[in-house]
Amino acid sequence: MTEAHLVLDHLEKRFGAGPPAVASLSLDVRKGELLGLLGPSGCGKTTTLRMIGGLAEATAGHILVGGRDVTTLPPHKRDMGIVFQNYALFPHMDVAGNVAFGLEMRKRPKAEVRERVERALEMVHLQGLGHRKPRELSGGQQQRVALARALVIEPSILLLDEPLSNLDAKLRDEMRTEIRDIQQRLGITTIFVTHDQVEALAMCDRIAVMRAGLLEQVGTPYEIYETPATPFVADFVGRINRIDGERDGNGEIVAGPFRLRAAKPGRAGKVTVMVRPHRIHVATDAIGPEWNSATGTIRRATYVGDVLACEVDCGGATLTVERHTHPGLPIPRGGEAVTLAWRVSDTLAFDRPAALSADAP
Ligand SMILES: Nc1ncnc2c1ncn2[C@@H]1O[C@H](COP(=O)(O)OP(=O)(O)OP(=O)(O)O)[C@@H](O)[C@H]1O
Ligand SMILES: [Mg+2]
Repeated sequence: MTEAHLVLDHLEKRFGAGPPAVASLSLDVRKGELLGLLGPSGCGKTTTLRMIGGLAEATAGHILVGGRDVTTLPPHKRDMGIVFQNYALFPHMDVAGNVAFGLEMRKRPKAEVRERVERALEMVHLQGLGHRKPRELSGGQQQRVALARALVIEPSILLLDEPLSNLDAKLRDEMRTEIRDIQQRLGITTIFVTHDQVEALAMCDRIAVMRAGLLEQVGTPYEIYETPATPFVADFVGRINRIDGERDGNGEIVAGPFRLRAAKPGRAGKVTVMVRPHRIHVATDAIGPEWNSATGTIRRATYVGDVLACEVDCGGATLTVERHTHPGLPIPRGGEAVTLAWRVSDTLAFDRPAALSADAP
């Protein structure tokens, strides 16, 4: 699991003047690893994947597979399977024809093609549907055909571009598990592009968070969620409250109406404080020194079944507080006064560079 199988070395893509779509991206993907490429629309995820797959030419930098430079090789010489965001099945071919395509390109004997197509369809639970046309399948089934078509060539690298984006929530869940199972069973080094943070956290060994063509952070789901490197990562991966403030020489932070301590020490100056809604408790007992606290008034409570979200007006700042529900949990009314408490260890503080202090993350 530790050996780098796919290496991106200062990979860059420009489409013209202006900032590059992908800027000097360096990343090691380990053998057998499922790496999530996560970021907002337009940050360069598809462009990165297309360069890896050989469908777009890199403006600069190198792509290595098992130590071999493949930067200028055509797609069919890269030993990679690709699943596109929109499936991109051949509409005039039946399912078996779609899945067989890569093997026929590679001029495999007919009997072998038939056998491997059958096996690939079984792997994605589509046995017996080989004769159907893509239009005679549901979205989820088409998605699985696309997956079988990529897997049948037994690639050493699998590239998946938002493969679940058109599925409903339940099918998405099922397909996540299915893809993860197949990927682990076959030990395929995989890059999984998504802009869905829950999907990335749930499926991936590691996540690379991109923003405007640049890598913000690479880490395990736990590292990305618990110790985000930047306010952007903290905000993009999971919900979070954000308050700007200032830290004094003793490490105490004044942020809006709050006086706080943060998990990690930092230098005096302007900071952005962030705390996740579900890490804030409505306090009933005395609060120890390892807690930050605040008082406020509930402005709105929203019940969504598993979670109760409350907006609490703390007099100059509003905090969102979330908790899991249970039968009999009272739904607070607007106007109720509450004391809030959250652990110092759950209080993230990011230094704000003086010149950027007025900027968004
Ligand atoms: N062929 C192209 N010509 C010019 N600009 C392009 C081209 N392809 C992509 N871009 C630009 O490059 C940037 C990155 O695009 P890309 O498709 O990689 O984003 P993405 O992260 O995959 O977004 P999404 O989540 O919406 O799929 C965007 O600003 C996009 O407009
Ligand atoms: Mg894309």
